[in-house]
Amino acid sequence: RKMSISEEMYLHYHGLIVPKETHSYESLEFAQGFKFEDDDVLAVTYPKSGTIWMQEILPLVLNGGDLTPIHTIPNWERVPWLEEKQLARVVDKLASPRALVSHFPYNLMPPSFCTSKAKVIYVMRNPKDIMVSSYYFHQMAGFLEDPGTYDEFMDKFLEGKVMFGKWTDHMKSWRNSELGDRIMYITYEEMAQDLPAALRRISDFLGCNLTEEVIQKVAEHCSFKSMQNNNMSNFSLIPKVYLDHDKSPFLRKGIAGDWKNHFSSEQLTRFTSVISKELEGESFSLPWSL
Ligand code: A3P
Repeated sequence: RKMSISEEMYLHYHGLIVPKETHSYESLEFAQGFKFEDDDVLAVTYPKSGTIWMQEILPLVLNGGDLTPIHTIPNWERVPWLEEKQLARVVDKLASPRALVSHFPYNLMPPSFCTSKAKVIYVMRNPKDIMVSSYYFHQMAGFLEDPGTYDEFMDKFLEGKVMFGKWTDHMKSWRNSELGDRIMYITYEEMAQDLPAALRRISDFLGCNLTEEVIQKVAEHCSFKSMQNNNMSNFSLIPKVYLDHDKSPFLRKGIAGDWKNHFSSEQLTRFTSVISKELEGESFSLPWSL
C-alpha cells in the first residue's frame, strides 16, 4: 500500500517532510545559515522522543538549577527549534550559553555546526513508543494530517510518510555522525528510569559540575508532573486550533512501554521486521530490543 501525504499541510525540503504551520522555506534556509558558537548546546531528537523534556532540562543544567527560564519563558522560545519559524524572532534574545533543539537529520545540519565545537545530545526512544506518541499527537495537532486508524498510521510511519521521515534514517544519520566527544547519546527510557542519573551524565558531558542537591532539584522540576503543571512547558498557551489538549494532552502519558497497550501481535511482527531489515549491517546496536 503506497501512502501519500498532504501537500497542503507539509513542505518538502531536500527530501525532508515538515509541517508548513511551523516551518517555511525561509526558516529552513535560516537554519542553514545559522552560525553555531562553540559553547552552543543542541539536543537532537526524532519527533516524540523527548524534545520538550530537553527544553526543560538544558536551561536548568546550564544555569545551575536557576528556575527563572523555565518559569518565565515558553519552551519554544527558551530552547527554540533550529528549523522552525520562530528562531529568527528569538535568536537575539537567547542567553549564553545558548541551547537549541532540532529534528534535523545529520545530513541537514548547517555548515557552521560541523566546523564549530558545539555539543550535541541525541535523545533516542524506542520506536514503538514513538509511534504511539506520534499517533496521539497527530490527533491533537491541527497542523498535522489526521493519522487515520492505528494500522494506517503504522504504514505511514514505517514508510517515512510522516514529518521528518523515517525514524531509522534519522537515527542512522546521527549514530554514524562520527562527532566523537562532541556528541552524547541518551535514551528516553534511561531518563524515565532514573532521571537524576541521566542528569548527572548530561551535566558531566556539558562540564557543568552540578552538586547533588542541584541534581535533585532539577530532577524534581523536570518530572512529568511538574512539567504538566508548568504553563511555560505544557503548551497550554497555544490556541486550541493548533494543539487541542482535549483530544490528547501534549504531555500524554510519559512512560516507557505504552506500545504494549497498542500493538497487536501481527502489528508487532510487521513493525519489527521492517525496522530490523533497515538496520541490517549497521555497526551500532540498539539500546532496547525491538
Ligand atoms: P507520550 O506521548 O508517550 O506521553 P516530544 O517532546 O519529542 O514531542 O515528545 C513528547 C513525549 O515526551 C510525550 O510522550 C511526552 O509525554 C513525553 N515527555 C515530555 N516530558 C516528559 C517528562 N518530564 N517525563 C516523561 N515523559 C515526558
